[in-house]
Amino acid sequence: MQKTALIIGASRGLGLGLAKQFCAAGWQVIATVRNPQHAEALSQMPQVRVETLDMDDAGSVDQLAARLGDTRLDVLFVNAGVAGPQDKPATQANQTEVGQLFFTNAVAPVRLAERLLPLVDPAQGVIVFMSSILGSVETGPGMGMDLYGASKAALNHMTRTFVAGLGETRLTVLSMHPGWVKTDMGGDQAPLDVETSTRGMLEQVTQAIGQGGHRYLDYQGNPLPW
Ligand SMILES: NC(=O)c1ccc[n+]([C@@H]2O[C@H](COP(=O)([O-])OP(=O)(O)OC[C@H]3O[C@@H](n4cnc5c(N)ncnc54)[C@H](OP(=O)(O)O)[C@@H]3O)[C@@H](O)[C@H]2O)c1
Repeated sequence: MQKTALIIGASRGLGLGLAKQFCAAGWQVIATVRNPQHAEALSQMPQVRVETLDMDDAGSVDQLAARLGDTRLDVLFVNAGVAGPQDKPATQANQTEVGQLFFTNAVAPVRLAERLLPLVDPAQGVIVFMSSILGSVETGPGMGMDLYGASKAALNHMTRTFVAGLGETRLTVLSMHPGWVKTDMGGDQAPLDVETSTRGMLEQVTQAIGQGGHRYLDYQGNPLPW
């Protein structure tokens, strides 16, 4: 039977690349965008159902859940994220900027996963949170983007709390580092292209099906230190 992946934040960058990879592998893809006007690339892919979602907005998440009904998800990939005030060190960013960064990167992904959990196949399902190597408390500090890294460390913490609350389950949860990738966020200097990173991530997700547990790993499957 055809498998279904829900990809959150697929208007551009890695989310769009993931939608392409899952489609090419024969999956049914449900891809979310914040602005339906920015779904040109997705709407040209016949296996993609485009949905509108602002992950920060609980009402928007509820509406998506209602539209999904009893759709069974094999993969929930929470990719959406923001870079935050990159031009400022932590000491200079204002309270609104820091609050927005931590809400979008750490709190909203886990709230969304809690809300959509009943749709994810409890025996074989995989939930992926897009983390970053910068979120590793062991190796991230000193690599730059300190506030962003802290927001991904907070996501990792929230994810471990989410996993602890799952109890006995065959669900698999991955905290994924995509590599440093050329996107609007990653910039032109990044060594990896979207296709290489997303092909690798699809492979990791496919291998994780039915394994259970929670792992923090990169797009090549290398485990990362928390
Ligand atoms: N690129 C890298 O090198 C790299 C490295 C490590 C981790 N990551 C992580 O990978 C993920 C994707 O990054 P990217 O490089 O593809 O970034 P990007 O090009 O900036 O794309 C970010 C995506 O997230 C969506 N998004 C942001 N806030 C959202 C919200 N509140 N609700 C719904 N969608 C939202 C954006 O939608 P709009 O188009 O509407 O803004 C866009 O589709 C992020 O979580 C990022 O932190 C990236």
